[in-house]
Amino acid sequence: MIFTVAVDGPAAAGKGTISRALADRFGLAHLDTGLLYRAVGAKGGDPVAAARSLDPRDLARDDLRTLAAAEAASRVAAIPDVRAALVRFQRDFARREGGAVLDGRDIGTVICPEAEVKLFVTASPEIRAHRRWLEVGGDAAQVLAEVRARDLRDTTRTDAPLKPAEDALTLDTSALSIDAAVDLAATLVSRRLP
Ligand code: C5P
Repeated sequence: MIFTVAVDGPAAAGKGTISRALADRFGLAHLDTGLLYRAVGAKGGDPVAAARSLDPRDLARDDLRTLAAAEAASRVAAIPDVRAALVRFQRDFARREGGAVLDGRDIGTVICPEAEVKLFVTASPEIRAHRRWLEVGGDAAQVLAEVRARDLRDTTRTDAPLKPAEDALTLDTSALSIDAAVDLAATLVSRRLP
């Protein structure tokens, strides 16, 4: 079975949680594509060379979840040659036998426009910043400022900007519990499963 679930949306909207739960529930492989950009940003040096030479050890670093890594990721993600270097791996993953869930910013628009299910998971900036703050702590106002700055960079870059695919289903998690959001997403996926 070839079956792709594309889960796009801004930072801390719940994409990762929803994607992992969908992968578990339906026995699909899961790829957090943000990790690729975080690993490229964390490698330092020339980002294009870093993207071209990315290997599994780069993805296993334990410092990829920090705000600094997120910030570096969104900077390198605006470079077209960095994105181009990561396309093939993501496309192959999306169309692997057995089905896959990929979460990111451009899965339904660029990486896999033929995805069988496209979800655009979103929530208000304040709620997303609060969720991120619960994870990382620190100064709440600064976390909100960083979420907004990243949204702006991700939505306004010229190459593969963050936006819903025309045929994406929008899931606003602002007022939903994790379980409710996962159940809703699972219902949408099960309707399309062969
Ligand atoms: O999803 P995550 O917060 O880990 O992504 C980090 C950054 O990587 C995003 O802010 C975005 O700039 C970039 N990214 C991207 N395309 C993807 C996934 C992530 O540009 N498919």
